This record gives sequence, C-alpha cells and structure tokens, in this order.
Amino acid sequence: MSVVLEVHDLEKSFGAVVAAHDINVVVEEGETIGVIGANGAGKTTFVNLVTGHLPPGGGTVEFMGRSILGHSVRAIARMGLCRSFQVPQVFLSETVFDNLMMAFGVAEQDGARLLTPLLEEERAMRVEAHLARYQIAEYRDVIGAALPQGVRKLLDIAMATVRKPKLLMLDEPTSGISAEEKFAIMDILMRALKEEHTTVLFIEHDMEIVERYVARVLAFYQGEIICDAPTREALRDDRVLEYVLGRGHGAVAEASPAPSARSSSGDDTLAVSDLDVSIGATPILRGVHLGVPSGTMCGLIGRNGAGKTTFMRAVMGALSILRGNLRLGDIDLAATPAHRRAHLGIGFMPEDRRLVPELTAEENILLPVWATGADNARERLEWIYRLMPEVEEFRHRGATALSGGQQKFVAFARALMCGTRLLLLDEPSEGIAPIFAQRMVEILHDLKQEGASVLVAESNDVHVAALLDRTFVIERGSVVERG
Ligand SMILES: Nc1ncnc2c1ncn2[C@@H]1O[C@H](COP(=O)(O)OP(=O)(O)OP(=O)(O)O)[C@@H](O)[C@H]1O
Ligand SMILES: [Mg+2]
Repeated sequence: MSVVLEVHDLEKSFGAVVAAHDINVVVEEGETIGVIGANGAGKTTFVNLVTGHLPPGGGTVEFMGRSILGHSVRAIARMGLCRSFQVPQVFLSETVFDNLMMAFGVAEQDGARLLTPLLEEERAMRVEAHLARYQIAEYRDVIGAALPQGVRKLLDIAMATVRKPKLLMLDEPTSGISAEEKFAIMDILMRALKEEHTTVLFIEHDMEIVERYVARVLAFYQGEIICDAPTREALRDDRVLEYVLGRGHGAVAEASPAPSARSSSGDDTLAVSDLDVSIGATPILRGVHLGVPSGTMCGLIGRNGAGKTTFMRAVMGALSILRGNLRLGDIDLAATPAHRRAHLGIGFMPEDRRLVPELTAEENILLPVWATGADNARERLEWIYRLMPEVEEFRHRGATALSGGQQKFVAFARALMCGTRLLLLDEPSEGIAPIFAQRMVEILHDLKQEGASVLVAESNDVHVAALLDRTFVIERGSVVERG
C-alpha cells in the first residue's frame, strides 16, 4: 500500500491558543480514519491546515509524495485532496441537479484529475451517474432549501467528490442527521467512496458511527493527538475516555432525576393549544397541544422533519400561525408582534447557532439585550459565566474563530441572556463531542435547579430523559404527551 498523506511536526497557534502541536500522521491508501476529540480540540484546524485553508506555523505536509505547503486550496483539490465543511455548502436556491452541474463545472475549470472540460450533455451524464451513486436521483429537481437534512448532507459530500479525490476529508458528515437516518446515509456514502477508491478521513462526534465505519481513530485534545490506534483500542484508551468520551461512556446514564426547584403550579408558563402552522401550502403542525408549566423542564422529542423547529419558530413569531392559542402566562403571544416576544423574556437557541461573524463571543451573547435594553445585563452575563465558565474563557474570541461546538455554547448563552421566563432550546446536544453533550446536560441540570422554565427539543432523549418533567413526542406535526 502506498502512502497518501504524510504530516510531520505540524504546528498552529492563534495568539495564546495552541490549536495544533506536534501533529504527526501518515495515511495509507484505502484507509478509513475517524477523527474524534472534544469541542475546540483542533480537529477542524487539522483539516484546514492540511487542505490549505490555513497556513501552518511549522511542520511539513506531503500529499502523494509532494509537499503541498503553501499551495492554494484549489491547487490542492486539483491534486486530489478534497474536503467538506461542518455546515453544508449546498446552494439553497438551486436544484440538486444544478448544484452538481455547478460543482462539475468548477472542477473542470480547475482541470481536476481525470476531468477535462465537457460538453453540457456529457456533464449532465456525469451528474446523473453521480446522482445514482449517491442515491439522490429522486431529489434531482428539488431545490437545496427543501431537501431533508440527510439528503442535503449527501449532496454536499457528492459535490465534494466530483473531482474523484484520492483523499477526502469530511467535517462531521452525520451532524444534523437524525438517529434513524444516520446509518442509511453513511452506508450510501461509504459505498460510494469505496467504489471510487477514495481514502477517507472524517471528523465525527457520534461513536456509533465511529465504531461501525472506521478502522483507525485519531483522538485530539488541546491541539495534540493523544491517541492514534485501531478503533476498538482507541475507544477504550484511558486518555480518550478521560478527554473525549467522558468516564461514563457506554454505561447507562444513572443520573437521578433532578427535582425541579418549583413544583409545577397550575399556571403554565407556555400554553399552546389547537396550533396549526403551514409553510407555504404544506401543513407542518396540526392541532398541537403542549404546555410548559412554570419552573419545569419539558422535552419535545422527534426525528428530523417532525416539526420541532417549526414549533419553536412559531412560538418566537418567526412563522405565522393559521389557527390556535399561544400564551405565555396571561399574555396572548399570538397577538404580540414577533419583535416584542424576546422582550417578554423568551430566549431561543436555534439549532443552527446563527452567530454574527463580525462580533466576539461576548458581543453575540449581549446582542439580544442591545435590542431589549435589559438593565441588569452585566449581572446576567456574570450569572451565565458562572453557569458556563468555558464560555467566559473564549469570550473575546471572534465568532468565526470559534469551533463548531464553542459556537453552540455561545448560542446557548445568548438564549439565556433574554430567556428570563422561558427558554426554547433546539437540539442543544446535537453535533457536539460526547464529553460536551454531558456538559450540556450538567448545565441543564443546574438551570433546572435554579427553577428555569425550559422546553428542549432533541431528536432522541438519551441525554435529557432524566431531567424531564414532561415529555412530548412529535411525529409528522402531531404532538402527544408521553405518560
Ligand atoms: N481563527 C482563529 N482565531 C483564534 N482562535 C481560533 C481560530 N480558529 C480556531 N481557533 C481556536 O482553536 C481551537 C481549535 O478549534 P477547532 O475549530 O479546530 O476545534 P474542533 O476540534 O474542530 O472543535 P468542534 O468539535 O467544536 O468543531 C479552538 O479553541 C478555537 O476557538
Ligand atoms: Mg470543528
């Protein structure tokens, strides 16, 4: 077997943050490698350094026996080293077919390996073959925005492979995909990559995926590789358990249900009944009844596309409702303009984070009070930092300099800033390392003891079950309470 990638003594710092230190990796042709590590451990930085998105502070990178240091991203891609990003890069307003036509067009411009400029019909034939290989042909004429998350992810990766890369690096291929779909999507992906003889390295937080699909694991912690070993061995490694998985990994969570600070009184903080919401002509929520009594933590559990985000957006007023009652205490939310709802003390953490890139972490957290003008902003910020000291550590860092998981914590903190009466959290533990998902649960536990009223949406309740006073299950837009 021949060596595809050889990295030696790779270094990168951002000011005082060491994001890569003494990184040494050799990748052989045909390998499947999983990169794991806590949030902010340096996984994305590693991929950025190797693929030319960031200049390293030191070290060497050779691809197919040639140094690629200092080469541009496009030059490196042309040689056959490609990647995907943590957030899909699909054009939302274009169809699946057109997205792929564009991807092939760009690759031809670059004179990618094995691709010469094509006639449009030839290109279309390649697109059709690619659609079949990734099993997304039935979505051929659907625009990016309307695709189920799993299909959008597959399309994104299909676009990254139009150049037939020798080595493909994927940043969290299963993030945002529900537990029900993830194996099916990964089966399609891994089969397609195998057919094309692509060596693959991917960053992953989901250990079921790591166990099933990769042979070798690289574990990162604070910019260093703390373990490089066959998967089974790596997942039992002491340092991996300590810094990535958490000691309780594999054991059934034995957390005792935390008592709510206030027992639920009769008056619901949030009371929703007969709620119908449509997007365009498509009914999304039908006759939803749901109540979050004051001082309780409630779960809204359902797979992707079931309507969780739609429900939260409707409560926030980002979507208009067709019918139904929405109350916060004795306030009629349906009659309150959307921009006033944050003033009422509702904090919302959207699943896609939505940070303002130009601002620091702390400025993003303060953003809602700049609009609502709360006078105790400082105290509230200090309280948030006591709850989440990890956020205080990187408060001055720009939003674009935060790792994916760090951004998630900032979005959580921002929701806390104005969520004095009610918190709506959309998949807080999605896309973060196991050890950080455990941290998220600790924070929720602390919030619960402080008597916060919370509705948390998750695709399954593995992390939060022990914390929930009430569980609502949502399926195709209908909600039932689980007894
Ligand atoms: N441009 C930058 N400026 C300053 N710090 C940065 C920059 N880019 C990354 N960092 C920091 O470097 C560290 C490593 O970040 P990286 O994105 O590689 O983490 P990660 O392992 O991919 O985490 P996640 O799982 O959360 O995505 C983090 O502490 C991050 O805040
Ligand atoms: Mg990352």
